[in-house]
Amino acid sequence: MNVGLKTQVLPAGEAATAAAARVLADGGLVGFPTETVYGLGADASNPAAVARLYRAKGRPSFNPLITHVVDLAAARKIARFDAQAARLAEAFWPGPLTLVLPKASGCAVADLATAGLDTVAIRIPAHPVAWEILDAFGGPVVAPSANLSGHVSPTIAAHVHGDLTGRIDLIVDGGAVDVGVESTIVGCFAVPTLLRPGGLPREAIERVLGRALAGVPQTTAGDTTAPLAPGMLVSHYAPRSKVRLEIERVEAGEALLAFGPRTAPGAEAAVAAMNLSVRGDLAEAAANLFGYLRSLDAKGACGIAVMPVPDHGLGEAINDRLRRAAIGRS
Ligand code: TXA
Ligand code: MG
Repeated sequence: MNVGLKTQVLPAGEAATAAAARVLADGGLVGFPTETVYGLGADASNPAAVARLYRAKGRPSFNPLITHVVDLAAARKIARFDAQAARLAEAFWPGPLTLVLPKASGCAVADLATAGLDTVAIRIPAHPVAWEILDAFGGPVVAPSANLSGHVSPTIAAHVHGDLTGRIDLIVDGGAVDVGVESTIVGCFAVPTLLRPGGLPREAIERVLGRALAGVPQTTAGDTTAPLAPGMLVSHYAPRSKVRLEIERVEAGEALLAFGPRTAPGAEAAVAAMNLSVRGDLAEAAANLFGYLRSLDAKGACGIAVMPVPDHGLGEAINDRLRRAAIGRS
């Protein structure tokens, strides 16, 4: 185990970028901001580094990782793009979209990072700090969200520190992330498939493809073998508190996670209350989601009552994460 490491925290900047590139080259682990959530980076081509990453997160090794690259030329060394994939990359990279593609021959990504699949998940992040680290390191970096497996994804450096201090080498603090939910994952199969709703709304992708995305059949609790999206464990985003969705009123002892200008009956008695977006803005709600779940989880309430959030645009990703939070950790 690599528990017991001294975890350094550096503010984003030239010194942090150089330190991050050094740690990655030495097979170490770096927490760094992307536009979606903080990632925990390791050298994608170094099996020992990838193994350490799984250990540090407590992540099951059948759950493959996303490879982050600096540009399309680097992506093409790792994965094969058909016309449809090229169109999506062109339209949305850098940005909160991950494509699952067939591995290119000579793909440098360690087999452990792809859980032995013949596909690889890949994206170009749109965050200057992430980009600078990838550029300085000069190779592909695998990066899951920088939380302990099963916890809520981190949107500020302090969340990364809370989960992973003593387990990783370095955290680069680039402030709060922009989007707040993880990237949208599209499987570029014969029928393009939405594997995970995320920071890029489905509607934008369907507009570029000129067709609807297929969906994955819902996995059931405890089913870790769904072939298309091996990591989409139902209980992935769980806080400790019991989460109750689409509430009509707040019950005694509950904390309230509100959305929009309306107040829920019983709100005045809530143990604590936070509003994802008073003006009902889904982008603002996505950016606040994980931080507010963490804050309310710390209030010692008997549960978190969540008001309904519309299911279009970024609302699809918000509701997906809320449903997983409501199922709870197994
Ligand atoms: O926004 C994001 O995507 C963040 C930042 C750090 O980039 N990363 C992230 O990684 O959310 P992670 O590990 O928490 O989620 C990766 C997801 C998992 O659900 C995994 O199963 C899926 O990507 N995945 C990876 N490779 C895959 C593959 N070859 N086929 C299908 N799904 C894959
Ligand atoms: Mg994650």
